[in-house]
Amino acid sequence: MSRSGREVRVCGDAGALATAAREEWLGQARAAIGERGRFIVALSGGSTPHALYASLEPRDLPWDRVEVFFGDERCVPPDHEDSNYRMVREALLSRVPIPHASIHRICGEMEDPEDAAAEYEADLRRSFGLGEGDWPHFDLALLGLGADGHTASLFPGSRALRERVRLVAATDDAKSGLRRITLTPPVFESARCAMFLVSGEGKAEALRAALEGPRDPERVPAQIIEPRGGRLLWLVDAAAARRLSP
Ligand code: 6PG
Repeated sequence: MSRSGREVRVCGDAGALATAAREEWLGQARAAIGERGRFIVALSGGSTPHALYASLEPRDLPWDRVEVFFGDERCVPPDHEDSNYRMVREALLSRVPIPHASIHRICGEMEDPEDAAAEYEADLRRSFGLGEGDWPHFDLALLGLGADGHTASLFPGSRALRERVRLVAATDDAKSGLRRITLTPPVFESARCAMFLVSGEGKAEALRAALEGPRDPERVPAQIIEPRGGRLLWLVDAAAARRLSP
């Protein structure tokens, strides 16, 4: 189903969702490498994308052409159980021959999250060769959806939702009290493709609000992700799509 440049694809279950996500990921990676010589991706954390990351194999891609960034990170050390980097390292990065220099970690362990945000922004600017006022164009930005409608670490009512100048912001997850670092909305809007992966009945109301509810990004932050000229793809399973209109 495609509405206003947005594509929503409903997969039967979590396994089919992971398969569809793998096909999309690899299709976009091979196209980007063919056209521009590299594939630059911003990975999401949480549990939903784990099956996608675990499905990727050394033989799938020329991994020396892949640059990995993170859409957000929790303010914890890289070996902490809550670390998105740790989850991605264990599920994917430790198994494929991607050069260490091509893995751009957010340093969540830094004392001051503002310093970590500034350092990550400098890394982004350096890697993409950005001048003042430029935005990075990720080939693919992976995103999840929280039951409260958040995405990346853009939480309801967060000041980061209104950030239109910086690429990276320090923010808070009120629910867990954990401080977080997140890419800001204009970065996601500048991606060639923003792809949400949403699975499970627990996300059904948030998905309905995001796709069919009144536009209110302060209350449903996932609504703020609207790539300018890029693709917006929602890959969801039937359980998550349960409350969507036919
Ligand atoms: C994070 C993610 C976050 C996640 C959603 C969904 O750091 O946790 O960036 O936005 O994608 O909370 O998480 P699940 O996939 O675990 O449901």
